[in-house]
Amino acid sequence: MAEKVVEIKKLYYAYPDGTKALSGLDLDVFRGETLGIIGANGAGKSTLLLHLNGILRNGASDAVKVLGRDMTDKNIPFIRSRVGLVFQDPENQLFMPTVFDDVAFGPINMGMKEGDVRRAVEEALKEVDLPGFAGRSPHHLSVGEKKRAAIATVLSMKPDILVLDEPSSNLDPKHRRGLIDLLRRLPLTMIIATHDLPLLAETCSRICVMEEGRVEADGKTADILQNYPLLEDYDTGALLHISRRSTT
Ligand SMILES: Nc1ncnc2c1ncn2[C@@H]1O[C@H](COP(=O)(O)OP(=O)(O)OP(=O)(O)O)[C@@H](O)[C@H]1O
Ligand SMILES: [Mg+2]
Repeated sequence: MAEKVVEIKKLYYAYPDGTKALSGLDLDVFRGETLGIIGANGAGKSTLLLHLNGILRNGASDAVKVLGRDMTDKNIPFIRSRVGLVFQDPENQLFMPTVFDDVAFGPINMGMKEGDVRRAVEEALKEVDLPGFAGRSPHHLSVGEKKRAAIATVLSMKPDILVLDEPSSNLDPKHRRGLIDLLRRLPLTMIIATHDLPLLAETCSRICVMEEGRVEADGKTADILQNYPLLEDYDTGALLHISRRSTT
């Protein structure tokens, strides 16, 4: 049986203001799979993803295990070097004076040598179609360019697990296609939260549906996307379109 790279057991999380976001969530992710996470606004998708490298923690360090390690202070630096998390809002990911510095930040922190850092940055910027952007200020990019730069900051780390929160939001059709092709090429474990169901249909082998802080359904992509009663309130128009395509 494939190795479990993420093991989450009975994960509860409430924000400091008391809002309950995760309510006893269980989830296993296996090495090499591409898992889609869908669910309505506020279902808890981003909150879940922020637990995968310890940005959010609920106190019980054994509720979330990544690459076989509990989410403890001691393990977090290792986990962060292996899990690349792209935030829903790129503004939270870009904080250096230049795009180069932002994309180099992870590799430098991981102790990569200068030449290797340069190569990793160049490759990552090429993957997201931002060649020539290294010297630009991240704050003066368009929203879609920021999103792509944020993805590059994580690709440059060459992570084992790629965690993407709404990766296609604000991308134009050409760059959305480029992203899908990239995701299909990358031989990584991936966890993708999105409302872009056609993207999931093309990239994911499995989909979890979240509702009120829990995984409500979990199955093969084609089964979930054709489960009309399950997704009735979610997006039947898109579903019809996708299920026709994925069954032909
Ligand atoms: N910083 C915060 N403080 C308090 N409550 C929050 C905070 N961030 C999110 N929440 C609440 O936690 C719940 C889950 O939010 P989350 O952002 O995880 O949802 P989501 O599934 O990612 O939604 P979306 O599809 O809009 O991205 C919601 O009820 C939301 O209002
Ligand atoms: Mg979200």
